[in-house]
Amino acid sequence: MDAVDGLAPARARLLAAGSVCVLTGSGISVESGLPTFRGAGGLWRTHRVEELASPEGFARDPRLVWTWYDERRAVHDRAKPNAGHLALAKLERRVADFTLATQNVDSLHLRAGSQNVLELHGHLREARCDRCGARRPLEGPFPLDEIEHACGGRFRPDIVWFGEGLPAALWSAAIEAVARADVVIAVGTSGVVQPAASLFTHLVGSQTFTIEVNPETSALSPHADIVLYGTAASVLPRLVETERGKDG
Ligand code: OAD
Repeated sequence: MDAVDGLAPARARLLAAGSVCVLTGSGISVESGLPTFRGAGGLWRTHRVEELASPEGFARDPRLVWTWYDERRAVHDRAKPNAGHLALAKLERRVADFTLATQNVDSLHLRAGSQNVLELHGHLREARCDRCGARRPLEGPFPLDEIEHACGGRFRPDIVWFGEGLPAALWSAAIEAVARADVVIAVGTSGVVQPAASLFTHLVGSQTFTIEVNPETSALSPHADIVLYGTAASVLPRLVETERGKDG
């Protein structure tokens, strides 16, 4: 097993923590076979954000937007949580106050057994009326002939798009979680999308110990007390381990 610098002190901090908040991004799902957004093979390298992930794009071509999200949901449904997702679910079971704030819409944290999950950018389990907020479950491709809602609005994916605010209650809960956390861990996010990134860079408590898990340096790295360079599925199971093992 590869040595990871900083693993032993990071684990010790985590073992002593009564309150932990984790922020995840698309990198945690790479080892489940899902792509990230930026970087080689990233979704935003081959797809136009403004067409697919903005209210303007949806207003212009709702069919295109629904087709894209239907395809993504089908890929998510076929994917399985990996050792990184499972390690965070295990960590939650032992920490008294645990919050997982994710930017991911793939539902893999819930499927791994995590419970206190704040899905900051929404999810693909429901469609939502863009006028009155009514919801309906998404169990297969969205039936486009039912896109018009009785109130005069249209059903859209329940995703937070560029230019939109995060749901207020979720965002408040995330701010409170990082403010009271002894340890905040960022996993698999480039840290370039706001306001999510500010949870790690600006909103953490002054005494909070910050750990980043990422195979590469990110915009969050300068704000981390320890960066554990490695992938989520290789590092997280060792980070949440309670026995002292070969890693020290
Ligand atoms: P990005 O694509 O911006 O960043 C992915 C990060 O994952 C990078 O820092 C990679 O180095 C890292 N990474 C890659 N493989 C990894 C692995 N196996 N284990 C751990 N980390 C790995 O994705 P996000 O930060 O999630 O928003 O992007 C944030 C938001 O931008 C998304 O929620 C999405 C996107 O536009 C919306 O769609 C609203």
